[in-house]
Amino acid sequence: MTAAYPALRLRRTRAHGWSRRLHAENVLTAADLIWPLFVTEGEGVEEPIATLPGVSRWSVDLVVARAREAHALGIACLALFPNTQRERRSDDGAEALNPDNLMCRAIRAIKAAVPEIGVLTDVALDPYTAHGHDGLIDAAGYVMNDATVAVLIEQSLNQARAGADIIAPSDMMDGRVGLIRTALERDGHANVQIMSYAAKYASAFYGPFRDAVGSRGLLKGDKTTYQMDPANAEEALREVALDLAEGADSVMVKPGLPYLDIVRRVKDRFEVPVFAYQVSGEYAMIEAAVAAGAADRDAMVLETLLAFKRAGCSGVLTYHAAHAARLLAAR
Ligand code: PBG
Repeated sequence: MTAAYPALRLRRTRAHGWSRRLHAENVLTAADLIWPLFVTEGEGVEEPIATLPGVSRWSVDLVVARAREAHALGIACLALFPNTQRERRSDDGAEALNPDNLMCRAIRAIKAAVPEIGVLTDVALDPYTAHGHDGLIDAAGYVMNDATVAVLIEQSLNQARAGADIIAPSDMMDGRVGLIRTALERDGHANVQIMSYAAKYASAFYGPFRDAVGSRGLLKGDKTTYQMDPANAEEALREVALDLAEGADSVMVKPGLPYLDIVRRVKDRFEVPVFAYQVSGEYAMIEAAVAAGAADRDAMVLETLLAFKRAGCSGVLTYHAAHAARLLAAR
């Protein structure tokens, strides 16, 4: 039995700020944020990324400074992506397995300087391949599943040995989560987590990211034979079920805002930690709207991030992480 108007007025609890705060069903904190950072060679180097205004690639020394900043702001975790030099890219992406590659040096430097912050590392070959694909390709340009997984296992071990806390396979190969988990256990990394990019769509929203890691100009064709079709939702549930059965500790949906329906369905169905990646194209859309005078950045950043919480996310990967954390601290 519910009361009816005028006994019931939903505006009553919205009438004052204290009451709105009291009735808030969801809350965003800095600890909900994962901050993706791009790493480049050199020292004292900051390279702004034209298609991601406000985001830069940082040399290892400066990425450590970002890690200190993030920790001071209460951000829980960083996600690292390397911009591998052109001459170190090859068809087999072998640089991914080099224990002294840019990625491993960044992990070690961050874990030495700021051990309290989590470090998530992407597992996929696209920052290392000359053709820009996430895996190994055959003569026809098809990304081969099992041959790729064999390399991804080694890439995961390379990152875990450097000190990565969360291994995040973003490649969408079949069967890789279970094989990576087995390899991590055997290699003594029982507490290294796997956050699988379980439902990752072949999306038009990744463009600026590919500029950031330097793979856009290299990519031959598209990623539709491994990443998911934006038309599909049931298939996302199957992907999530498989990754969980294989031992994923948490799952990710990507992109973010256009796929909140998937986040909600995954959360309701599986009741496991779900994360979403507010990807580069989403960041660029917000910044373009701000630049056009069409939006208030601060309000839009906080509203979109809160929407992820409402949809069921435990946390969000966002390029706005430091900005959002500063806004939250000032409230
Ligand atoms: C690599 C990877 C991509 C992103 C994260 N990891 C790009 C892609 O799959 O092409 C995109 C992130 C973003 O757009 O911010 N496998």
